[in-house]
Amino acid sequence: MAYNIQTLNKISPLGLELFSDNYSISDNAENPDAILVRSAAMHDMTFGDKLLAIGRAGAGTNNIPVDKCAEQGIVVFNTPGANANAVKELAITALLLSSRKIPDAMIWANGLKGKGDEVGKLVEKGKSQFVGPEITGKTLGVIGLGAIGILVANAAEALGMKVIGYDPYLSTDNALKIDPTVKRVTDIKNLFASADYITVHVPFSPATKGTINAEALAQCKDGVRIINLARGELVDNAAIISALESGKASAYVTDFPNDEILGVKGVVALPHLGASTPEAEDNCAVMAAKEIIDYLENGNIKNSVNFPNVKIDATGTKVCILHKNVPSLIAKVTEVFGSEGLNIENMVNASKKDYSATLLDVSGDVTDSIVSKLCAVDAVIRVRVIK
Ligand code: MLT
Repeated sequence: MAYNIQTLNKISPLGLELFSDNYSISDNAENPDAILVRSAAMHDMTFGDKLLAIGRAGAGTNNIPVDKCAEQGIVVFNTPGANANAVKELAITALLLSSRKIPDAMIWANGLKGKGDEVGKLVEKGKSQFVGPEITGKTLGVIGLGAIGILVANAAEALGMKVIGYDPYLSTDNALKIDPTVKRVTDIKNLFASADYITVHVPFSPATKGTINAEALAQCKDGVRIINLARGELVDNAAIISALESGKASAYVTDFPNDEILGVKGVVALPHLGASTPEAEDNCAVMAAKEIIDYLENGNIKNSVNFPNVKIDATGTKVCILHKNVPSLIAKVTEVFGSEGLNIENMVNASKKDYSATLLDVSGDVTDSIVSKLCAVDAVIRVRVIK
């Protein structure tokens, strides 16, 4: 079976070289079987009927219409953790940038060009305007203890900070990776009340929009420093501007600048550099490519944001069914196979919110007419036979 892959952004060759000769990859593939994307906006795109999967080389999927894709039976994958170290390193940089007035100091020092022998004396005379506190011994609040938040929390502990973590959705696996000295709070208000620095590492969604808003900032210590390398919308612009003007906040480092925030005193604006390392680009491309290949060739799903993880090792014909998460569907599907005299050797079914995936290992020939019967079952979105 030959597959067409469309790339919407430049994808690291380390990922692209994982596709065998059965794949043709181009940025203008028509009616592709899968799309690889980094940050290209996909909300206004129309998807072809062949499109089975989208691989996002990165963590955030807010550039992709994830729900619309689920309705059309398009599995959207991301690459959780693949760029976590890159973002962690920028978060530590951001902590220091928020403290030591480094950006302003650099601009000022460069402005001394042309002062000849005076430069040394001017440096010593002018440096006091850039004094800023050390981070050791201070308290860092980490909101979101996923792949990135955990690395940031542990690294900050290693730098001598006291770390408070907040994550109502913390998984057991992730809990085990957190340095035991990180104090976890169940009420975010306790984090706001104690942190000298706050860094946000949650995905953007309607529920997380404005995590740092006027109400949150009012609960913070005076002079709090806010770091946002996750998504711009997580911090309310008007609230942070007003906090910086009143002195409630003393710095805001953001990887998502916009016109409103640029030029505001105390804002350090970076051009979305979190994952901009060659290592992260390679890791994300490799993970996204592996996810797409395993889904196209085997029907296995891992790290999808709109369908559950499913995996099966088949000895017969593998059938992959994407469907809505409704009662009695499995009974109707197995009835189709039974009525056609086909035996189901093995089956996995899992759900993620409103959607489910079922993988079956079936002995015998799964004909087009059986596929049509499966497609006709109410709530079935897509059926694929993988031989
Ligand atoms: C992510 O979502 O993975 C990071 O913001 C970097 C990126 O957008 O590629």
